Amino acid sequence: MLDVQKVRKDFPILNREVNGKPLVYFDNAATSQTPQIVIDAIVDYYSNYNANIHRGVHTLSQEATDAYEVARKKIQHHFNAKHAHEIILTSGTTHSINIVATGFTSFLSKGDEIIVSALEHHSNIVPWQMLCERTGAFLKVIPMNLEGELRMDIYDELLSDKTKLVFTNHISNALGTINPIEEIITKAHKVGAAVLIDGAQSCPHIKPDVQDLDVDFYVASAHKLCGPTGVGLLYGKEEWLNKLPPYQGGGEMIDQVTFEKTTYAGLPHKFEAGTPNICGGIAFGVALDYMNSIGFDAIAAYENELLDYGTQKLLEIDGLKIYGTSKNKTSVISFNLENIHPYDIGSIVDKLGIAVRTGHHCAQPIMDFYKIPGTIRASFSFYNTKEEIDALVEAVKKAQMMLS
Ligand code: ALA
Repeated sequence: MLDVQKVRKDFPILNREVNGKPLVYFDNAATSQTPQIVIDAIVDYYSNYNANIHRGVHTLSQEATDAYEVARKKIQHHFNAKHAHEIILTSGTTHSINIVATGFTSFLSKGDEIIVSALEHHSNIVPWQMLCERTGAFLKVIPMNLEGELRMDIYDELLSDKTKLVFTNHISNALGTINPIEEIITKAHKVGAAVLIDGAQSCPHIKPDVQDLDVDFYVASAHKLCGPTGVGLLYGKEEWLNKLPPYQGGGEMIDQVTFEKTTYAGLPHKFEAGTPNICGGIAFGVALDYMNSIGFDAIAAYENELLDYGTQKLLEIDGLKIYGTSKNKTSVISFNLENIHPYDIGSIVDKLGIAVRTGHHCAQPIMDFYKIPGTIRASFSFYNTKEEIDALVEAVKKAQMMLS
């Protein structure tokens, strides 16, 4: 059982006021808040052992290197990767996707096919479109239904021996749908395609096991799971990462450099050119420890309670429509009010101290499907409460009255 009042004490920001009201933070799908233990780790790094890693013989450099590599191991264990060198530390999900999309340029030919889902964030659409432009491959899309679920019957029809890659998110950022990734991966492998799963939205709620999933690539960002911005991971199976060419050239990713020829370092350094986000990587490890100390089963059970409560309460408002009604969804509620622009609701509830995201949520194809400009999105985390949901409901009612 999760003790939410105890958990809330870990997050100093939850004590602040916004516009004279207690902050209600419901924009967790955009970025999560940071517990004191992670803030302390950042302060400790810069106060005590800030140095560049993998380079110096001096004590500070060795301490920083050790802490960074300990973090990589924590990430490996959290995601259950077979090897620590299968964890590439990146600047975040977008960077991780671009490493794979760029790397596949030399593996694809004209007429090859790539499958993405209709539920993707722009970061899991645009890099593949760019890959198609470079190679002459085609992008095919698994469509969605009105509930915001993927049409798996059509996925079956799209798969063929021309399919080389399949990409989908684990959970939709705009609607909260949990996609059947086990089925997606198994079926893709049957036709010989590689699979990348975008876990940016799932990692705050679910602990993925990359070996059990048998996924080829899994990507995520630390800032969605109580860590800092500017750091994330690319998990790749060793054989794939060995085959993929480096993404960026520079220091750290080399073995030998002469003006005639450069040879590259082994994994994971081949993909980690330049000075990385050292402090961010270390803090990512601490954030994972923190999330695991609460426990992902307890987090999921509590967030499901918030989802059910929020859905029921919001649906009591006249003219409110929820987008994304799959039974298999996480604690994200995207909604609109009849004849009112989402931005107007977002601005008014902010005046009442409540943070929600409004707009297309970097998922324009989903908005086009529903023929709407955007939604108001309330995304709940394990440190939110039912009382905060009540405050949102009251604020939305007030905004509706003002705007009608
Ligand atoms: N992808 C993040 C969101 O959904 C930023 O808000």
